[in-house]
Amino acid sequence: MKRIGIITSGGDCSGMNAAVRSATRTAIGHGVEVLGFRKGYLGLLKGDYLEMTSREVAGILHRGGTFLQSARSEEFRTEKGREKAVQRLKDLEVDGLIIIGGDGSLKGALALHRLGVPVIGIPASIDNDIPFTDMALGVDTALNNIIYAVDCIKDTASSHDRAFVIEVMGRNSGYLASMSAIACGAEYAIVPEIECDLSDLCNQLRLRWEEGRSNAIIILAEGAGHAQNIADTIKDAIGFETRVTVLGHYQRGGAPSVFDRLLGSRFGNSAVEFLLAGQRGKMVGLICNAIVPTLLETVAVSEKRPQEELLGMASVLGI
Ligand code: F6P
Repeated sequence: MKRIGIITSGGDCSGMNAAVRSATRTAIGHGVEVLGFRKGYLGLLKGDYLEMTSREVAGILHRGGTFLQSARSEEFRTEKGREKAVQRLKDLEVDGLIIIGGDGSLKGALALHRLGVPVIGIPASIDNDIPFTDMALGVDTALNNIIYAVDCIKDTASSHDRAFVIEVMGRNSGYLASMSAIACGAEYAIVPEIECDLSDLCNQLRLRWEEGRSNAIIILAEGAGHAQNIADTIKDAIGFETRVTVLGHYQRGGAPSVFDRLLGSRFGNSAVEFLLAGQRGKMVGLICNAIVPTLLETVAVSEKRPQEELLGMASVLGI
């Protein structure tokens, strides 16, 4: 292989830069040229790229987001768009591609693989909903961001005897909500994987209220309910003064944690090593602290099972 491409695609997250830097330097170490396409599949279609040197990726390890930028491309979702991408790679004499992103981006990687492009995917999404990796890139930093915010909110909640419904990201995944609930000592986590019984939630809060505990934190995954409705229900049922905080995109940014810098560096390095060793159509994942390749075909048809044991723990520890 003489030249490879790298893209970051879908929702950004902290640690993507570490992966880009590591993949670039690993490839250069093997004498392979690297093109970094801007804005994900959009840049690939347009042929908008940077020639990546070791210097080009200096000073990005500690920065959140992705310096290659990211985007969602409607054109790439079409058959014609994908064929155009393959042609673009041929024209630029790119022999392999590293794709860093979430489940949609990895499905795009699989489509390119089926069209004959040698690809390796790197899982990156704060939702941690990608199977065959214990952790995706960006999850740890997002959790640290959430915990910092919730700790701040707990201070003001206790000063004013209030309940707070704090909405975190996760349209279909309760990972951030349940893990942050455990780590912050929240009273309740509401996640899309488990139906929430609001009357049970109110009963638990009432019992706590009667015991003299006058503030509460409820962490809500964005896909599991409407924060203001839940806050209103709590207020009406118990008379508890309740406020809502939506953490939003704050969760996705910020300097990557040590864990994400290391994970990004490991993923980027192994993705290139696997590609150069002839592996094709795979995703690198972290499984029991080892970097393990899994077929993108398998990843695409599998689901990450919610960690029942941790979800259960969240409800026991919160009461
Ligand atoms: O998939 C990651 C994620 O951060 C989700 O948790 C969230 O629902 C979504 O992206 C937000 O996407 P956008 O940045 O396009 O608003």
